[in-house]
Order: sequence, then structure tokens, then C-alpha cells
Amino acid sequence: MTMVGGATPEGTRRFRDRFAAVHAEDQFSVHQGLWLSSIGLGTYLGEWDEATDLAYEQSVIRAVELGCNVVDSAINYRFQRSERSIGRALARLISTGVCSRDGIVLASKGGYVPFDGRPPEDVRKYYQETFFGPGIIKPDELAGGGSHCISPKYLSHQLEVSLKNLGVDCIDIYYLHNPEQQLDEVDREEVLGRIRKAFELLEDMVDAGRIRYYGTATWNGYRRPHTAPGALSLPELAGIARSVGGVDHHFRFIQLPVNLAMPEAITVRNQAFDGRFVPVVEAAGRLGITVMASASILQSRLASGLPKAVSRGLRGLRTDAQRAIQFVRSTPGIAVALVGMRQTGHVDENMELARTPLVSLEEFMDMFSRPDQDS
Ligand SMILES: NC(=O)c1ccc[n+]([C@@H]2O[C@H](COP(=O)([O-])OP(=O)(O)OC[C@H]3O[C@@H](n4cnc5c(N)ncnc54)[C@H](OP(=O)(O)O)[C@@H]3O)[C@@H](O)[C@H]2O)c1
Repeated sequence: MTMVGGATPEGTRRFRDRFAAVHAEDQFSVHQGLWLSSIGLGTYLGEWDEATDLAYEQSVIRAVELGCNVVDSAINYRFQRSERSIGRALARLISTGVCSRDGIVLASKGGYVPFDGRPPEDVRKYYQETFFGPGIIKPDELAGGGSHCISPKYLSHQLEVSLKNLGVDCIDIYYLHNPEQQLDEVDREEVLGRIRKAFELLEDMVDAGRIRYYGTATWNGYRRPHTAPGALSLPELAGIARSVGGVDHHFRFIQLPVNLAMPEAITVRNQAFDGRFVPVVEAAGRLGITVMASASILQSRLASGLPKAVSRGLRGLRTDAQRAIQFVRSTPGIAVALVGMRQTGHVDENMELARTPLVSLEEFMDMFSRPDQDS
């Protein structure tokens, strides 16, 4: 059965209020009218097997029970299996009264051409039967070595499949997945034209109630110097959204990796804004766009062995994973630290942080000014 509706200001506020007695006051913050938990659950990594399906299903349930209301996926994650796990978890959470649909902020992405549950025996045949034959993709619309497409017809098809996988009739945030991928092969003007057409489709999807907001989820696009070949300009994309959807356009979220080893969102001045270059979080703030951090613990590589200065700066926490996430959720301008969690033990460990206030700006800056001594 399809779950009806999407996240709402009232629903997300009610979700937050239930945890008010146990969570730190700043564990939730409002973005685009919605209350978002500072830690979100990601579903990228893992095998395409039933054990991992079940693990993610249980992790989503556990995370929501502990007060996480942001769940992130993409149609291609684990060949659509992550979206399906989330769908099953959400149905269970709602049917057992743990939460209501309007309290959960669901995000997914389209762009990469996904397999369906498992790799096909014959990839050419799969492409032909699923995408070329029915006219969903024209071969010349593909980039990324044949793996990436952002044409309106393709995206509207992919959005419908994602809605079905998730068992909902509305996705709260729908991202173009790594649009910078197109820049590797296609001329920049052509890519910007493709993004404009995608934004037109996504504004229509907002009007139709199929999505609430849209955005761009990226890996390199917003981290590279502005002169680098795959660099994206957020003001330029926001300008396209404005010309397509007016001042009240719905291009309101971006995603990029932010972690102790990848701090470019706050350190690299690569976004031209009002005659100077500013880091992407500053540009986003000034454009009214919310920033989600991905890869918060660098795909688990920051879960052990952090330098002592970091441990000292992030006092009172039990584990390096918690310290790494605390850094991201406290980074000025970051709304949500997304953390991939298959294991409920990791959910328990990471959600302990919800009881800890964010690090203040002063403490945050102090972390970078102290030498790493072994005392
Ligand atoms: N371009 C994009 O759009 C993009 C790119 C990357 C990521 N993302 C999104 O951001 C989310 C987060 O990024 P990510 O999953 O790539 O990397 P991540 O969150 O940095 O790391 C996830 C890994 O860390 C492990 N982990 C979690 N908590 C731990 C703990 N307390 N101790 C030790 N290990 C722990 C997880 O293990 P288990 O899974 O076994 O629990 C998983 O292997 C993704 O899931 C995805 O939703 C988007």
C-alpha cells in the first residue's frame, strides 16, 4: 500500500517534540520549514543481498525509534534494494505507530542508470528492453560512460520507480545525482541546458505533489576550485532554478561530502558571489539553500585513529566515529550529517550523540588552532 503525503512542518515538529526530554536542544533545526535531525541515515554502501536488505531495514527502524528523521537514498544504491529496504522499514514504522509519514524527511536521487535488484546477465539487453526500447533514454543523452542521464523523460521515469520502491506518493527531497558527472564528457553549455530542462521537470513534479523540494547531490562538483573541469557554480544553478521556478523555486537542498578529511565546503572559496569567492556553505546560506553533508565519517575511515587534537577538541565523546560525526553536525552551515549505517549497533552508537549539544563556533574554531601534541 502506498503511504500518502510527505514531510510537513507540523509533522516534523511533532517528531522533534517527542524527543525533547532526551535530546540536546539543538539536535533538530528548521530548514525549508521542516525540522531535521542533525544526524541522518544514509544507505549507499553494502552488498546487494538479502542480509544487507534486512540490516538496512532494521537500521532505519532503529534510527527513527531513536529520533533520526532524515533518511537518504538513491535509486542506484545497491541496485534499488536500499530504496526498497527503506520502503519496508517506513511501512512498518507507520503501521506500528512509531512515526507518521509527515514526520520523516525522505530523500532520493536520480541520474545513474540503475540495475534492478541484481546485475543483469546481459547489460546491453537490459538497457535496450528497459530504457532504449520504450524510448525512456535516447543513447545520445547518456554520459558517464553510458551510466548517467538527466533528461526529463528519464528522470520522470526514475522518480516514479523510486516512489514505488519507497512505497510513497511523495519524496521530500529529490536530487540530481552527481550532475558534474556530465561535465566529464559533455560541453558545459550543453550540461547547463540539460540541468535547466531537469529543473523544469522537477518544478512540475513539485506542482504535481510527487516531490517537495529538489537539489543536487554531488561528490566533486562543489569541492573543486572554480576553474577545475568538473566544478559546479551554486549561484549559477540557483539562477537557473530562479529563471525556471521564480523566486519561490524549489531548488533548496544540496549534498556534498564533508568530514574531517574533506572540509572543502567551508575552506575552499570556489563560489563566485557578489563579486568575490566564498565557500559553498556560505553561498548556499545566502541563496536560501540547505546543505546536507555526505560521507560524514569518510566511509568508516574516520571511525578510528583520529589525531589527539581532534579528540581534545571534541571532549566527552566515547568513540572516534562519534567525534567525526560531531565535527560534521557542528560545522557552521551544515544542516544534517548523513551517516551510512547498516548495523543497528552503529545506529545506537551514533545516535547517542543526539543527547550531546553541538560544538559552539568558538570551540569549533579552536580545534583548528591547536597543535597536535601528545600530552
Ligand atoms: N554523491 C552523493 O550523492 C553521495 C556520495 C556519498 C554518500 N552519499 C550519501 O551520504 C551517506 C553517508 O555516506 P557514506 O555511507 O558513503 O559514508 P559514511 O557515512 O562516511 O560511512 C559509512 C560507513 O561507516 C560505517 N559506520 C557507521 N557508523 C560507524 C561507527 N559508529 N563505527 C564504525 N563504523 C561506522 C558504516 O558501517 P555499517 O554500514 O556496516 O553500519 C559504513 O560502512 C550515504 O549513505 C549516502 O546516503 C551521497
